This record gives sequence, structure tokens and C-alpha cells, in this order.
Amino acid sequence: MFGLTGCEDGPRGFSLPAGDPAKGQQVFLEMQCLSCHAMEGFERPADSEDQLSVELGGKVQSLKTYAELVTSVINPSHQIAKGYNLKDVQISGQSVMPVYNDVMTVGQLVDLITFLESKYELEPYTQTKYLMYH
Ligand code: HEC
Repeated sequence: MFGLTGCEDGPRGFSLPAGDPAKGQQVFLEMQCLSCHAMEGFERPADSEDQLSVELGGKVQSLKTYAELVTSVINPSHQIAKGYNLKDVQISGQSVMPVYNDVMTVGQLVDLITFLESKYELEPYTQTKYLMYH
């Protein structure tokens, strides 16, 4: 039967086993995601300071779904992140982000996604109050 309970029940479309965010953090550090990414609470390696920095985690106005996060990692060129200088983030339509599919186990992926997911925080949308002019 189709549920009408919305998205709270978990990812739509596919579902991976529960991950461990602490292990995911290890994967994040080991795979050197910080050489191109910035995340609150993490130091970037010294040699990457003047390099590309795509922000991960933090306050966002719409949360990425689990499926979107998985897609970003296993198929980075599927959708190129917005808000960056295109020439910095893609070459001929391909994301400059490496594909880890041959180096990351599914277990590592699951932990990594759980870790990433825990780093995003939904920022309540505040409506701009316009003054009335008469
Ligand atoms: C060589 C640089 C590089 C490395 C290393 C890298 N990324 Fe990326 N990543 C990018 C770029 C550039 C983008 C933005 C373009 C795009 O969406 O593909 C991106 C986008 C992303 C996004 C989507 C962000 C958004 O706001 O849409 C996620 C999630 C992500 N990366 C996770 C990771 C993780 C996890 C690792 C480590 C396993 C990693 N990246 C390693 C360059 C990198």
C-alpha cells in the first residue's frame, strides 16, 4: 500500500542501511574531501587554502535529500552545485570532483552520507518585511 506519510519515513526510491556518522567523519578526512570543501569545525589542509572551497553542511534553506547527497558523491556531474564560478567547479560539463566509486566501499559511502546529512541544518525561512509606502 502506498503511504501518505510524506518523506519522514526515510529516503524515497532507495534505502541504504543505517550509517555511523563517526565512521563517516573518518572517511571524510581520509578521502581528503577538505582539499576542495570547507565545513564548519574542520581545518582545511594547509596546502588547500587558496584552492577551491565548496561549502558543505551548515545552515541551508532547503535540505538536500538523502538521495541527492548520495548522488552528489557517486555521480558528482549529475548536477553541478550552484552559486560557484562555473569554470572552477566543472570542466566541459564534468564536475572537477573525483569519482570515488572504485575506492570507497558501500559501507564507507553509507557512513559518509550519514555524517554529511548530520551537518546540514535547516534555516527557517524568514520572510522579508516590506514597509508600506502610501
Ligand atoms: C578535487 C576537488 C574535490 C574533492 C577532493 C571533493 N569534492 Fe565534492 N565537490 C567538488 C566540487 C567542485 C563540487 C561542486 C560541483 C558539483 O556539484 O559537482 C563538489 C560538490 C560536492 C557535493 C554537493 C554540494 C552541493 O552543495 O551541491 C557534495 C555533497 C560533495 N561534493 C561531497 C564530497 C565528499 C564527501 C568528498 C570526499 C569523499 C568530496 N566531495 C571531495 C570538488 C571536490
